[in-house]
Amino acid sequence: MKQDKVKLLIIDDDPKVSWILSEGLQGDFEILSARDGIEGIQVASTEKPDLILLDIKMPGISGLEVLAKLKKADLRSEVIMLSGHGETKYVVESIQQGAAEFITKPFDVKEVEIHIQSALEKSRLRQELSHLKDELKAKSQYDSFIGDSQAMLDVKNVIEQVADSELTVLIRGESGTGKEIVTRMLHSLSSRSKNTLSKVNCAAIPRDLLEAELFGYEKGAFTGAHRTKPGRFEVANNGTMFLDEIGDMPLELQSKLLQVLEQHEFVRVGGINNIHVDLRIICATNKNLEEAIGNQLFRDDLFYRLNEITIYLPPLRDRKDDIPLLVEHFLDKYVSLYKKNVPPLSREAVARLMEYDYPGNVRQLENLIKQVVVREDEKIIEELLLRGRQIQTARSYQPARQPLGVPVAAGGIDNAEMSENAEPDYSLKRRVSKAVSYEEKKLIAEVLNKVNWNRRKASEILEISYRSLLYKIKDYRINEIK
Ligand SMILES: Nc1ncnc2c1ncn2[C@@H]1O[C@H](COP(=O)(O)OP(=O)(O)OP(=O)(O)O)[C@@H](O)[C@H]1O
Ligand SMILES: [Mg+2]
Repeated sequence: MKQDKVKLLIIDDDPKVSWILSEGLQGDFEILSARDGIEGIQVASTEKPDLILLDIKMPGISGLEVLAKLKKADLRSEVIMLSGHGETKYVVESIQQGAAEFITKPFDVKEVEIHIQSALEKSRLRQELSHLKDELKAKSQYDSFIGDSQAMLDVKNVIEQVADSELTVLIRGESGTGKEIVTRMLHSLSSRSKNTLSKVNCAAIPRDLLEAELFGYEKGAFTGAHRTKPGRFEVANNGTMFLDEIGDMPLELQSKLLQVLEQHEFVRVGGINNIHVDLRIICATNKNLEEAIGNQLFRDDLFYRLNEITIYLPPLRDRKDDIPLLVEHFLDKYVSLYKKNVPPLSREAVARLMEYDYPGNVRQLENLIKQVVVREDEKIIEELLLRGRQIQTARSYQPARQPLGVPVAAGGIDNAEMSENAEPDYSLKRRVSKAVSYEEKKLIAEVLNKVNWNRRKASEILEISYRSLLYKIKDYRINEIK
């Protein structure tokens, strides 16, 4: 196979140098030349040469400045610096700035050729490495998405097809089925993976704070808005925005989200100027959005816009074939994490695990295996499954689990949320006291957020003393979310 010629750009103000190199290197190279730094940068960015020979001393901007600009522009060209006598002091700086080689004038064309081959070899290795890294990154994300049931193979297929597109994806499925993992894969397999993946849980932020959180606000937009603050959409610009629990987004904000999807712009709370963003949006929900549309809680135009592609993650009970692989994966994961010595589970234990229905889906199975590893004993599976079943029965006549409802970092009573394997607590005293604490923490966090964490003001609104507020903030581990 005939290889394309290597494209070489010579940036030097001395026409003799360009001429000697052009004559000597012709044949194997396609040679371009520029007489100064500015022209050089221009040619480099339009022609994207494989290699640049760059003189250090030139009128106008120096070779080192040109080098810095080329590297900043993320041009892939390898750069060889050319220097006159007595300029070797620039060697270190050039190499630090990313030059591949350094040649001192006067030079012999043969010598230049050797440096060129060496720079090209470096470039090839670098490209190979970056390619391998990309592949490895995508693969490790991929490997951790376990499942070879037909349903999961179909999901993987869709992920591969749509990851690197701008399509808005809606991920649906019960709690614990892997919606967040799928989001991370979509992001990491996309060309936005170099930028951030930002997540907002629409159910975890009080309705009246969600708008400011997502869209930001202008100074003075409301009491406590002491300064202009960009919202999450702005901060995530150029990346992917994951809107979790989209079914909980209040109706009033849905039209604003639609505008982001359709026009890629929005206005901050209290603002007048449109802010433009370039974002890929992924949403997830375990709610029945069609029903919400029927009840006029969700806009149908937004639904169709979000739904360009839907990925449905079936509950684990409908793809039990995946259980053995998942068990093996979680066992490996926790054995190496906790440095325990647990053999593979017996066939009977796996069979037993396959009989169960997992209301908490993969998350519940993962928690269960984690406990087996921690206690180094597969015999506890029976006990854990029994407990899981008790929780399931208790839940069937309990109201649905409330979302936490407050934008606070995890603290003590957050753990009051039922873990899939915990024993339900029927003590009236304890349950009431937990409920009171929950409400207290929720209210305090809400007020603190409203007044921008002005604790004095918050204590006045809450009608408690300043000291007692400080104590409660500490006790409940309420943290300011920045
Ligand atoms: N296919 C899978 N392979 C490996 N791990 C998985 C898979 N699906 C889910 N998990 C694991 O199960 C746990 C729950 O998954 P995830 O958080 O993605 O669920 P979710 O659908 O977002 O749940 P929720 O609706 O409650 O937020 C995570 O620890 C995740 O790593
Ligand atoms: Mg989730």
